[in-house]
Amino acid sequence: MSIFGIRKRLKAALGMGRPPREIVRYRVTYVLPDGTEQVVEAEERYSVLMASQALASPIGTGRRAGGTCPDGGCAECRVQILDATGLSPMTDAERRSLDAAARGEPHEGRVRRPGPPVTPDARLACYAKVVGDGARVRVSELFDYDSIRGDPSGS
Ligand code: FES
Repeated sequence: MSIFGIRKRLKAALGMGRPPREIVRYRVTYVLPDGTEQVVEAEERYSVLMASQALASPIGTGRRAGGTCPDGGCAECRVQILDATGLSPMTDAERRSLDAAARGEPHEGRVRRPGPPVTPDARLACYAKVVGDGARVRVSELFDYDSIRGDPSGS
């Protein structure tokens, strides 16, 4: 054990350490592409995308391995907000990303077709943070795990 580990244990034994942070969770309802609903208990400040990892399949982002794009510019994680209660407000960066996708501006050097127009209920799941109970989000596409599975026969 390092000197820092010993110090940490000593502080904890003497009641001098930082009190453990309480993890706060909020309920988010996902309306899935098949129309079913699933409620997830998301940790405070998790993004709607990150919290969707608790679903059988997370929100699809167009990335081959799933997850967030590196620059927050793909707009593939677009969701429809049915109830924005408990979600952080839209940032300028999120707005720019939605607008760029709607205009069909290239992303990561690749040409894109103009996307759907930006509507008041459109959000990007990787930007929208869970800050309270009550959000309802319609997801149009879930990540397809079969797309990354190899051929079981090995051929
Ligand atoms: S994953 Fe790319 S903008 Fe959200």
